Amino acid sequence: MSTDRPSLLVGQLLSFAGDPFTEGPEAARHSQRGGVLVQGGRVAAIGDADALRRAHPQAECHDYGAALISAGFVDAHAHYPQTGIIASWGKRLIDWLNCYTFPEEARFADPAHAASAAETCLDLMLAHGTTTVCSYATIHPESVDAFFTAAQARGMRAMAGKTCMDRNAPDNLRDSVQSAYDDSKALIARWHGRGRLGYVITPRFAPTSSREQLAALGALWAEHPDCLMQTHLSEQTDEIAWVRQLFPEARDYLDTYERAGLLGAGALFGHCIHLQSRERARLREVGAALIHCPTSNSFIGSGLFDLAGLSAEGQRLGLATDIGGGSSFSMLRTMAAAYEIGQLSGAALHPAQLWWLATSGSAAALGQGGRIGNLAEGMEADLVVIDLASTPAIAQRAGRAGDIWEALFPTIMMGDDRAVLESWVAGRPVHRRNGQ
Ligand code: GUN
Ligand code: ZN
Repeated sequence: MSTDRPSLLVGQLLSFAGDPFTEGPEAARHSQRGGVLVQGGRVAAIGDADALRRAHPQAECHDYGAALISAGFVDAHAHYPQTGIIASWGKRLIDWLNCYTFPEEARFADPAHAASAAETCLDLMLAHGTTTVCSYATIHPESVDAFFTAAQARGMRAMAGKTCMDRNAPDNLRDSVQSAYDDSKALIARWHGRGRLGYVITPRFAPTSSREQLAALGALWAEHPDCLMQTHLSEQTDEIAWVRQLFPEARDYLDTYERAGLLGAGALFGHCIHLQSRERARLREVGAALIHCPTSNSFIGSGLFDLAGLSAEGQRLGLATDIGGGSSFSMLRTMAAAYEIGQLSGAALHPAQLWWLATSGSAAALGQGGRIGNLAEGMEADLVVIDLASTPAIAQRAGRAGDIWEALFPTIMMGDDRAVLESWVAGRPVHRRNGQ
């Protein structure tokens, strides 16, 4: 037990007692003036603000007035090495990789560049209220070291893996079957389960790995089943046609992974836009997680993710920025993009569903549902404090709100890092707006 002085955060509270996709908005819990008692890096109690203040007079009180306290955002798919090339113009997936992504990722052979990019990325994430991120690194093992070192310095729960590629990539960005296996295994030994860090076995996607490399990583996963596995699946139609040419023996895109032992409950598949019915059935059957990356999907022109259909059939879903294919570090902006893509597909997502996806849903997709992603006693105290009137446009709209959802939705649709008053990691404030 830690003996550090407790903190009491007071404001509006938003948490979840269930999944609003299956139970409706009533699964959310809102309190107009609640308190979150934090001690030893965890949420020690939640309740009425005045009652908690009386019961814990020794606690340091942070009164945020009408601001909203929530679990910090969880970004379930990002590429920290692409921080420097976010918002690069005019390409679709394969050209975008060749033109912008691969040249930038080659620079991560330099550990100083990797360290600086990791720090920049994680500081931007925290400034946007994201307290956990699951990231791809580059093929360089040192790029994983840089990311985990930066996450550890900030106390963040974070996940990442060395991106493996042994074909269809420039010479200086290719590993081999053996080195992908050996380097990933050594990184697991070095980082997995150390503090709040978790290793993720990371073949980039089927086009850049040989069958043999996919199989070697499948074997590695069987040896370390408590690691997650992340890759990309069915993002763009040209990519899917290319996969069909490269793997004529496979039944579909998912099968290229399934044959290699890369399908299971701990698998995270980014994008999943153009899935066939067999793929949907298998993903559902094994309980893999499908990670929706809406700003990326519109930015690089990938298509419309069927969120309503996939959630109705019981898929596990997470939400992510996909930096730097995605065009924003903000999970607020990402929720807005998910809402817009839902509208284009004929489904209006409720703000409770959007907020749940960005917190509890993504945490559960990463296998962290019992630790982060919700405000509840015993959970790790990774929190965000949101100003619901952060710009004049948002303030005038929120001023007419009749309930919490009307008050929150303008911030979801129009908010960004200006809405993030504070981010807390493991019970400590790590970011304050304007460095206040
Ligand atoms: N598919 C393979 N690599 C990538 C990547 O870096 N970003 C996106 N959006 N899709 C990919
Ligand atoms: Zn990606």
